[in-house]
Amino acid sequence: MIAIIGASGNVGSKTTEALLAAGQKVRAIARHADKLQPLVEKGAEAWIGDAADSEFLTRAFEGAEAVLLIISTQMDVADVAAYQDTLGEAQIVAIKASGVKNVLFISSQGAHTEEKTGIIAGVARQEKRLNALEGVNVLNLRPTYFMENTFNSIGLIKNMGINGSAIKVDVEMPMIASQDIAKVATEKLLNLPFEGKSHLDLLGDRNYTQIEVTQIIGAAIGKPELPYVEFSYADQKAGLMQYGISESVSDAYVGMYEGINIGQLSHGLRNAETTTPTSFEWFVENIFKHAYAANA
Ligand SMILES: NC(=O)c1ccc[n+]([C@@H]2O[C@H](COP(=O)([O-])OP(=O)(O)OC[C@H]3O[C@@H](n4cnc5c(N)ncnc54)[C@H](OP(=O)(O)O)[C@@H]3O)[C@@H](O)[C@H]2O)c1
Repeated sequence: MIAIIGASGNVGSKTTEALLAAGQKVRAIARHADKLQPLVEKGAEAWIGDAADSEFLTRAFEGAEAVLLIISTQMDVADVAAYQDTLGEAQIVAIKASGVKNVLFISSQGAHTEEKTGIIAGVARQEKRLNALEGVNVLNLRPTYFMENTFNSIGLIKNMGINGSAIKVDVEMPMIASQDIAKVATEKLLNLPFEGKSHLDLLGDRNYTQIEVTQIIGAAIGKPELPYVEFSYADQKAGLMQYGISESVSDAYVGMYEGINIGQLSHGLRNAETTTPTSFEWFVENIFKHAYAANA
């Protein structure tokens, strides 16, 4: 049995589905039952609860051959670092108490350091905690920026006729589709045990500038002239807070954009193992366009 935290999320849902399809027993962990229902219909056991609760998590991990972990973010928390640490420490308590021996952590590019990476610093702290566990195999997957993050631009495109963020126009960065992360996670979880402590960078098919990203989106939605506007860090923060995101979380996201702009989040080396297949063109045509059409 494999226990998956965040089983209704981008990576968790696709990993859970693939594991079930391979005949694996899965405990699907999340707070909202409705979002887990499609997986329950495919055979997953739903474990509804808060991953910050170490006792709940320990029960969910008991008997698992492996667990998949994420450090998620709650947009309204007053202190995002403290929230990330609460989630991380609960996972450590549950791993020790349940005796699970294989841990796959969905970490991130930038988790090699706690400096100048904004919200990713909390993920780096969790890699450190996990790597300090004795007698537990830990595989830290370090994916780059998700292509799914572009869903957050749909409102901006529809309401303001622009795409934009604090990422600088000339920065080339890798982007990855969550389906490619799930594929790697599934393959690793079906081939246990992991060996000791390791990490694997996952860098998408190639690097993109935000100008290219905007051109690809514009062409697909019938707005070939869609402009990319580079926001100041102050404007980016104000924009996030306008959506009800707390100041602490907004600062952490702006910190991540600053990290992207100085190359702190592109640490991994591109090679055959770290390059994944899905292109942004394919993603926009097959996934983004549907999300764009569904957004009223
Ligand atoms: N986005 C990026 O560019 C990026 C890049 C690199 C790494 N990552 C890492 O990848 C991770 C996974 O991302 P994702 O996009 O797959 O996640 P996601 O789609 O945001 O989903 C989060 C999942 O976690 C569950 N969840 C959140 N808080 C929880 C809590 N307190 N207790 C139990 N379940 C909780 C959610 O369900 P409920 O809301 O129902 O609980 C949902 O199933 C992220 O957390 C991030 O650290 C992201």
